[in-house]
Amino acid sequence: MTLSELLKQHGQEQLLDFTGLTAQERIAYLAQLSEIDWDTVELWKHPEDLSGKGKISPIAGLRLSEIEARRAEFERVGVEAIRAGKVAAVLLAGGQGTRLGSDAPKGTYDIGVTRPLYIFELLIRNLLDVAAQCGAYVPLFIMTSEKNDAATQAFFKQHAFFGYPEAFVVFFKQQMAACVDFEGKILLEDRGRLALSPNGNGGWYASLKHARADEKFPKIAWYNVFAVDNVLQRMADPVFVGATIASGKKCGAKVVCKARPEEKVGVLCLEDGLPTVIEYYELTREMAEMRDEKGDLSFLYGVILNYLFEAKRLEEIASARIPVHVVKKKIPYYQNGAMISPARENGYKFETLILDMVKLAGSCLPFEVAREREFAPVKNKTGVDSVETARALLLQNGVIL
Ligand code: UTP
Repeated sequence: MTLSELLKQHGQEQLLDFTGLTAQERIAYLAQLSEIDWDTVELWKHPEDLSGKGKISPIAGLRLSEIEARRAEFERVGVEAIRAGKVAAVLLAGGQGTRLGSDAPKGTYDIGVTRPLYIFELLIRNLLDVAAQCGAYVPLFIMTSEKNDAATQAFFKQHAFFGYPEAFVVFFKQQMAACVDFEGKILLEDRGRLALSPNGNGGWYASLKHARADEKFPKIAWYNVFAVDNVLQRMADPVFVGATIASGKKCGAKVVCKARPEEKVGVLCLEDGLPTVIEYYELTREMAEMRDEKGDLSFLYGVILNYLFEAKRLEEIASARIPVHVVKKKIPYYQNGAMISPARENGYKFETLILDMVKLAGSCLPFEVAREREFAPVKNKTGVDSVETARALLLQNGVIL
């Protein structure tokens, strides 16, 4: 089938416009067109039904007191795994950080006050602490996107990787998905360029494998995956790694105890006996307020996007289809020679979410961390989970800003 037949078959003839493109632009555009994932694009018509239908029940986790009591044991197991090269860190940095309102990669944000202190720098420092404790470097995979890869790599080079050995850092790009309008027509972001967006953080493993980023480190048995925007993040934390390994579970999740029943945080629980994360708005009020015999909230564990996945399990589930979320967004687009910035949502983006991998993993250990020591998300410019709140938490933890 020719490309034009293919586009016609999918009702996307509007894309067959090559006017004004140079030979090089035309080649690049044709490459984009040939890479469209039609299964995903067609989802706008029948979004997958992602509302949980199973029976939701609380999940048992490791609380701070138990972790403290068994700290030495967990730490020993974790340190041993790290020394043996079995643990890798995966930094998810492919997001667009739209809420922060900057085009630059989120990790390049300078959160310092009296001196420069970048988010990437803070994360690397934490990883350097682990390397010093274990006497071994942890391979660090950094997932970027088409949009921020060059800027991210240049930033790390410019700052000499903040002292982390370059040989232990591998960048890989996450795959992209085409954006469509409410009629399912694929949008252009410019003449001869499709409007593409990163396909969500659930695509990290497929993208890592696609890029063959792991080939240099064949011993990896565990991947610790975490978000770029928690500036108190502790990755490859030996105690967490050791506790997950000792539990025999396929996955571990760092969690914080919810402060209030109505707190807006995704909650780790069980659905028909399998671990799952449900969004705060999916919890009924009754469930949110339910308490166990000790008086704690039954649905207690809020996720902070720091997971440890067993590599073998990831291999096993690699071919399983991860749900694709169809999300309404404001998507700037190009039409009839003009760039249009819509005032309100005008189309759909397609995203996979890492929390859906927890369910696929099959079993999960919730591992409690002290929120004031390990959770300082930078999502917004001001207000809740903002630069201001993160700075206050960093100061509280003795970081000089
Ligand atoms: P968020 O869900 O906060 O998304 O990402 P975001 O794109 O960074 O920010 P907003 O919503 O546009 O303001 C959580 C983590 O997942 C990564 C982000 O970089 C962040 O570490 N992520 C998100 C990806 O790596 N790829 C994606 O496609 C989306």
